[in-house]
Amino acid sequence: MAQAPRGAQPIEPVLVVIPTYNERENLGPILRRLHETLPEVHALVVDDGSPDGTGELADELAAADERVHVMHRTEKAGLGAAYIAGFRWALAKGYATLVEMDADGSHAPEDLPRLLDALGDADLVVGSRYVPGGSVVNWPKRREILSRGGNLYSRIALGVRVNDITAGFRAYRREVLEKLALDEVASHGYCFQIDLTWRTVDAGFSVVEVPITFTEREIGESKMSGSIVREAVIRVGHWGLRRRWEQLRGLLGR
Ligand code: GDD
Ligand code: MN
Repeated sequence: MAQAPRGAQPIEPVLVVIPTYNERENLGPILRRLHETLPEVHALVVDDGSPDGTGELADELAAADERVHVMHRTEKAGLGAAYIAGFRWALAKGYATLVEMDADGSHAPEDLPRLLDALGDADLVVGSRYVPGGSVVNWPKRREILSRGGNLYSRIALGVRVNDITAGFRAYRREVLEKLALDEVASHGYCFQIDLTWRTVDAGFSVVEVPITFTEREIGESKMSGSIVREAVIRVGHWGLRRRWEQLRGLLGR
């Protein structure tokens, strides 16, 4: 079991990685709310060349505020690839806590202090919709069914006891991301979240879920798509089968 040192809270410095694709109207407000809540934290906007000019806006915001950083990527390569690139940057810069947060306001920056507090007793804190006190506001029924179904499927396949395994509002201790083989993470879409959760648990790190309210965006569009769902179903099924196979080999003693 890898044990990270338990220090005073929050474990600083903190970097909030915010992936963006066409979030021009959302970016200013979310950064403002973040810094009103936690003036000390830094933010890294990872933009995949958004056609709506989110990247240019991020540059303007970064020029005016030393706590804001920007990474420009050339094409839309998925949430997972954006986060991996952001994490590598953060590790190289020496941040101690790495946060994942959406740009669209679904994750309330006002909830972040509770996530960071919980990191005192965990290696990964997941902002969870599916523990007592957690909730989802304004989601269409089919989206909720998809999310709950995805969680159930993942739990059965992987045997991981996390209620909101696809959650996108999280805080990692840097030690976790240093230890995981990030170059082996091939997940592009939202199954990236499942992928990292399962690697974190598998590596012996501790996970705590903190209830959050997820509020569906008011501006812009979700990037959820059929191919993102298909990727998750196939990859999670594959990991699950591999896990069962390894268990079976263990039982047979070979
Ligand atoms: N750079 C980059 N590249 N950013 C992206 C990409 C991409 O290919 N795809 C999505 N994003 C950004 C969006 O701009 C937003 O800031 C964030 O990632 C989340 O994307 P949404 O499209 O708003 O996600 P969602 O609301 O449908 O899904 C949310 O719930 C899922 C679980 O049910 C997110 O929190 C997911 O992370 C989460 O897995
Ligand atoms: Mn969203």
